[in-house]
Amino acid sequence: MQKFARAAFGTLQRPLARAFGSADNPLNHLGALTIFFCWIVLISGIWLLIFFRTSVTDAFASIEYLTHEQWYLGGIMRSLHRYASDAAILTILLHLLKEFAFDTYRLKRWFSWVTGIPLVWMVFILGISGYWLVWDELAQYVAITSAELLDSLPIFTDSMAGNFMTAAAVRNRFFTLMAFLHLIGLPIFLVFGIWLHVFRLSRPSINPPRRLMAGTLISLLILSLVFPAVSQDPADLALAPQSIELDWFYLHVFPLLQIWSPGIVWVILIGVSSVIFIAPWLPPGKATKPATVDLDNCNGCERCADDCPFGAIEMHPRSDDLNYEYEAVVDADLCVSCGICVGSCPTATPFRSHGTLIPGIDLPDLPVAHMREMIKKAAEPLSGSKRVLTFSCEGSTTADTLSKAGEAVVAVRCMGQIPPPFLDYVLSRNFADAVLLTGCSDGRCRYRFGAEWSNQRVERKRDPRLRKRVDDALIARAWQDFPQYQGNVLKQLQALRESLPEVAADSEDEASQ
Ligand code: HEM
Ligand code: SF4
Ligand code: SF4
Repeated sequence: MQKFARAAFGTLQRPLARAFGSADNPLNHLGALTIFFCWIVLISGIWLLIFFRTSVTDAFASIEYLTHEQWYLGGIMRSLHRYASDAAILTILLHLLKEFAFDTYRLKRWFSWVTGIPLVWMVFILGISGYWLVWDELAQYVAITSAELLDSLPIFTDSMAGNFMTAAAVRNRFFTLMAFLHLIGLPIFLVFGIWLHVFRLSRPSINPPRRLMAGTLISLLILSLVFPAVSQDPADLALAPQSIELDWFYLHVFPLLQIWSPGIVWVILIGVSSVIFIAPWLPPGKATKPATVDLDNCNGCERCADDCPFGAIEMHPRSDDLNYEYEAVVDADLCVSCGICVGSCPTATPFRSHGTLIPGIDLPDLPVAHMREMIKKAAEPLSGSKRVLTFSCEGSTTADTLSKAGEAVVAVRCMGQIPPPFLDYVLSRNFADAVLLTGCSDGRCRYRFGAEWSNQRVERKRDPRLRKRVDDALIARAWQDFPQYQGNVLKQLQALRESLPEVAADSEDEASQ
């Protein structure tokens, strides 16, 4: 199932990347887009609130006023409110599916997943309670059906459905309570829930790129003008609504009550949520070993703490006699063993020839000393003047494709694990004539910032920077890991090889270290 979801995202990725460009591809900003939709819902909601009458007798008329008399502003705000809420459901579900597809929710990354489930419930309850407030035929259907659902739970002593037996039974107090829940109570919980959801991540991406925001807002505005949101006939509890148009984004559960009893519907809802909730532990995975700090080699420069995408490193006052202010301390519960901190450590350099190669921070199960050995081993069979050594992410499709094609591949945990001196090492010690860096496609790095930090280090925009003496033309980058696009990686490798001069420099037997 995960494979299928990944293939589906791979198929969607390319046309969207072509249409929007890689940086603005909506698939790379699903969480941030959801927050953007929440902003639109909040701002349009404030406008609606100004004119909304929270009494059961006046609610419908106040919304009608906004929709028709004040169509140029209130009407647009109402439509934006509706369509942004619908869009949020779409992006939330795609976001959930994407995190599942790319396996970024298991082991120590369970927190965002588990805190995401209540967010889905909250968004649905918010949407459903919003439909009550219009007090049209749809609201009547939603109110009565929700009340039946709630009555089947052993929580309320009084019957909720009893509130909707007659028009007189729908009390203003009850209506005002719903308005309070929808307009104030639930939004506050939602904001807190979103904060908690991204709390453990470093630099969470909460704003989509500006162009994507502008394009999304314009599309919603056009939709609002072409298909303005309107009410259905006013609620009349003396009559059963004949035909209602459902908002399938929020109300798809309601028709199930015509097939099954409320009890069965609850079992399905709670059952599905529970399975999703425990998904990070199904089946239990084997945790990788967290990064470890070697104080003798740590100068407290803070780069690892700055680069760690999971907020797993804190700088503490020095606990030894070395003359530095700070030392790096890894929180083993947060560390997902991506190795990105290793790539940022200035002491992780393969040129060190004395003693064992121990940097300030390292991965116990894939240390930099081993990476250096892997380079030597992978480069051994290379010959001629167009030798290319590829660095790829461990277990990636690209690593498999290239290995099968007989290429020299060094597979590391994440591209961000490679300290730039390693690239210099490969070229200056003549292990290869050029280097290809390849891994998860841009914007969906399995470890969030591996591709981005790696790009910035190679472009000399982020420390540790690639040394100036390294010829840029000898380092190619191909961030494409979807099985569908392996042809592109091979093409890029071919292009890199063709760009190399026919005759190698007279340095053949220098590959010694
Ligand atoms: C209101 C709904 C939601 C919002 C606004 C939201 C927002 C976000 C944001 C902004 C991020 C950070 C992205 C980044 O910087 O890499 C994120 C990450 C994540 N979200 Fe959500 N999310 C929502 C619902 C969900 C749901 C329903 C799930 C799954 C059950 C989920 C699972 C995750 C996971 C697994 C991560 C990544 C954590 C990691 O990389 O370790 N989210 N979300
Ligand atoms: S990057 Fe290396 S030297 Fe700098 S604080 Fe982290 S472990 Fe220490
Ligand atoms: S291995 Fe990754 S998660 Fe662990 S401390 Fe280093 S950068 Fe952070």
